Amino acid sequence: MRLFIDTGSVAEVEEVAAWGVLSGATTNPTLLAKEQGDPGDILRRICDLVDGPVSAEVVSGDSGGMVEEGRALAALHDHVIVKVPFSRAGLAATRELTSHGHRVNMTLVFSASQALLAAEAGATYVSCFMGRLDDIGVDSTAVLEEIVGALRPGAVTAQVLAASLRHPMHATIAARLGCEVATVPGKVLEQMLVHPLTEAGVERFGTDWRARPEFGAWLEELVRSSKVALS
Ligand code: E4P
Repeated sequence: MRLFIDTGSVAEVEEVAAWGVLSGATTNPTLLAKEQGDPGDILRRICDLVDGPVSAEVVSGDSGGMVEEGRALAALHDHVIVKVPFSRAGLAATRELTSHGHRVNMTLVFSASQALLAAEAGATYVSCFMGRLDDIGVDSTAVLEEIVGALRPGAVTAQVLAASLRHPMHATIAARLGCEVATVPGKVLEQMLVHPLTEAGVERFGTDWRARPEFGAWLEELVRSSKVALS
């Protein structure tokens, strides 16, 4: 499963991109509205930082407006994927945009039947919001499992994108269910880094190595001579 970052913050993308684990990014109107500056600049900067798809969302309520906004957003950068909210108009806009070569992330999908319609309209990604399902007492694992199960048997190319992740368990569940992508907030990516045994292990290796000072000198010399050999 590939990992995208779910954010409107250039600084957050910059930080996590440096870890080498990002395959893409998703934004939405709420995330961009929290940031200072021009949304177009923000989207272009995120696209430059991420070597993969970056979702930018349309806000029109009618399909004509969605298509116009989608085309304009796609023109911002080659990495832009047009994010279209699920609705009748969203499905029509998805069909129109994809028939002209634009890739679409259909968002706000909460059921397998919606996912089937999104896939049929040509969406590249079908975004199911786990956290928001859990928030209303619906088992997001069961819904996601049903979506993956419904899309896999057909000749459907749409990829299932797990969104609205609130904690690392959501990411693990999405991977185990066979989702192609999970989009993860920076805070949750930070939580995914942490394990007390990792920290304790690093501390112990350092202490044991430093107890043999001649080993430190040996490693320094090894690094120095390999640099000379490579230069
Ligand atoms: C997905 O692409 C959305 O941007 C996002 O995951 C929404 O998450 P939220 O429910 O935390 O707002």
